[in-house]
Amino acid sequence: MAREVFNSKMGAIAAAAGSAVGLGNIWRFPYVLGENGGGAFLFVYILFTFLIAVPILLSELAIGRRAGKPVLGAFKALAPGTKWHLIGYSGVFCAFLILSFYAIVSGWTLLYAYRAVVGELAAISPDEMTTLYNHTSSDPVVSIIWMFAFIGLTAFVVMRGVQDGIEKYSKILMPMLLLLIVLLCIRALTLPGALDGLAFLLKPDFSKLTFTGIFEALGQAFFSLSIGMGTMTTYGSYISRKQNLVSGGFSIAGLDFMIAFLAAVIIFPCAFSFGISPGQGPGLVFVTLPNIFNQIFMGRAVSIVFFVLLSVAALTSTISLLEVVVSFLVSERGFRRKPASLLVAGLIGLLGCLCAFSSTIFSLFDNISANILLPGGALFIVLFIPHVLGKEAFRSELEACGTRQRVFGVFYFVIKYIVPVAVGGVLIYQIVNWLIG
Ligand code: PHE
Repeated sequence: MAREVFNSKMGAIAAAAGSAVGLGNIWRFPYVLGENGGGAFLFVYILFTFLIAVPILLSELAIGRRAGKPVLGAFKALAPGTKWHLIGYSGVFCAFLILSFYAIVSGWTLLYAYRAVVGELAAISPDEMTTLYNHTSSDPVVSIIWMFAFIGLTAFVVMRGVQDGIEKYSKILMPMLLLLIVLLCIRALTLPGALDGLAFLLKPDFSKLTFTGIFEALGQAFFSLSIGMGTMTTYGSYISRKQNLVSGGFSIAGLDFMIAFLAAVIIFPCAFSFGISPGQGPGLVFVTLPNIFNQIFMGRAVSIVFFVLLSVAALTSTISLLEVVVSFLVSERGFRRKPASLLVAGLIGLLGCLCAFSSTIFSLFDNISANILLPGGALFIVLFIPHVLGKEAFRSELEACGTRQRVFGVFYFVIKYIVPVAVGGVLIYQIVNWLIG
């Protein structure tokens, strides 16, 4: 079977960045940070992202590229006759769970783009904005309609094969999103009372950080970089051997962090300025941001562009999630791409309905996937490197482009000892806590 290969040299890296940057940065990061007391969470999050998550990201990209196959096939090819490919099954399962609630929030993003177009968000007070969100999130029918629209869009792209389309769009639209975010930061920081919001974000108060907060920071770092379930393994298999994986991985992580951080620099000043609780949960972005559009020149046009770009960022992430399941059916089960895409999209829509009807199920799927399945998957992926792939094979994959990695020794040490102990430790502690609590 012909493999999808990205056209330009940067194509697959851009697509991987498209997978990483999404609602995880702009919707999930601020709300989880807000629930966990602010600055101290940010500090732990930075540590986890660059010390723990980046090595896992590079491991996934390297495994995928070495095998030249999507996640399940990759583990089968590199460790034939073993059980390592179960990581792939956990990834497929996880993709289902994440997509079901992620598609609901993506649907809301589309809905807010529509509301911006028809002028429904203009000139309403912060309190009315909160009421509007509460109505939206408690109306399953509206959520389901927009969710199906979004899943339809995702399936449409995945059906045609990932390579044409995504790379073109990602490369133009993501810098646009970044630019708009920077402009919004400037406006947010000049709102009255903005500095209190900034202090909430930047002043670490470690007394507010619970163990659960640390655990959620780890889950968020994995969720945001799309690691622990095979998305990046699958995209790694599309990356050419001429591409420098290490610099690619660091650019993805840097961009991903920057967008999440800047989103928080908009949202918290805005929340403090408009009297919105920073710990109010999944609605945070939808009740804070539209207020700011009402305070700027050409706010309506800006709000349209913002929600459209956010929908596109969400789309490049849902594509990568659906691709994990579809590429599994295509390469392991002999399906054709089109029926596989439609079938999986339909099943995910059904699961999504559960999330639309029950916010408990919504949070459960959100929690289990980000905080348990991703760290669990990541733990096995990182154990795979020293125990199966081996040091030399890993090195040669990272150096395939011809650049010698001078700090490889340190890096390998981190992967072999630090990452498994940290991820395993946090997971075990939390699970024991649940069991006895
Ligand atoms: N990283 C994506 C985001 O931040 C979400 C995602 C998670 C995508 C896991 C793929 C796999 O929005």
